[in-house]
Amino acid sequence: MPVNDPIVAEQTPAADFTIDQKWDRYTSEEHAIWTTLYERQMEVLKGRAAPEHFKGLELLNLNEGGIPDFRRVNEKLEKLTGWTVVTVPGLIPERDFYEHLANRRFVSGRFIRDGEKLDYLPEPDIFHDVFGHVPLLTQPVFADYMQAYGRGGLRSLEFDAIKHMARLYWYTVEFGLINTPEGRRIYGAGIVSSKAESIFSLEARSPNRIHFDLERIMRTDYRYDDFQQTYFVIDSYDELMEATYEDFAPIYARLPGMDELKPSDTVEGDRIYTRGTQEYARAGGLPAKAEAL
Ligand SMILES: [Fe+2]
Repeated sequence: MPVNDPIVAEQTPAADFTIDQKWDRYTSEEHAIWTTLYERQMEVLKGRAAPEHFKGLELLNLNEGGIPDFRRVNEKLEKLTGWTVVTVPGLIPERDFYEHLANRRFVSGRFIRDGEKLDYLPEPDIFHDVFGHVPLLTQPVFADYMQAYGRGGLRSLEFDAIKHMARLYWYTVEFGLINTPEGRRIYGAGIVSSKAESIFSLEARSPNRIHFDLERIMRTDYRYDDFQQTYFVIDSYDELMEATYEDFAPIYARLPGMDELKPSDTVEGDRIYTRGTQEYARAGGLPAKAEAL
């Protein structure tokens, strides 16, 4: 739980872990951090983010400046796809997270990162959660995918398969790329809300870029503290949705007999767009960032 948000600390969460955003109590400094991040990111994302991301920002008036008020966002979002955004104190247990998604509720943190350290993020903040995730929830197919993911997550608990579901989320919702007629674009929230990874994911020589394959992703470990070593690319949000219609039980039955893959591995059957040099990771990751870019 973020320690430096007194508005979070003073509240007792409900049984489903939600709290009140208490939008009126954001300070002008906090609003200014949002606006700085927003403007910086919009520059970087030109020609890099998926068109649906920009469309979603516009549809929800997230471009007005300052931290969005969820009451106002929800008025629009609920009409568009039936989703709402709710506030939680920080990371919540998987079951509750899945339960919210399965009911078309996206959970967001309340706090915003330190204005002195715009790129340092110990856990997802409201800029990541809202700027990164919420725009695509205006798009019907992606909105359906997120709900299907939540339902699949709840079912995965019966199979002890949280790890596999977490990988699917990671490599799609957080770090996914999409092919468009104008070229490859970012749709993953973890990339879209990060200045450096927006460039790295599309342009660096280092990472692999491989076509989306659900079972392959479920076998693949990921980097949680650095740029990804592999990005998975979809052709459309329908492709994601179709893959999640499938019953995962047979996949869960097969996976224990298959090798786990490291984040940098490529295997036979991969549709590889770019075979990465992995020079960034080999050079030690984050400290070597400038050279790898
Ligand atoms: Fe996220």
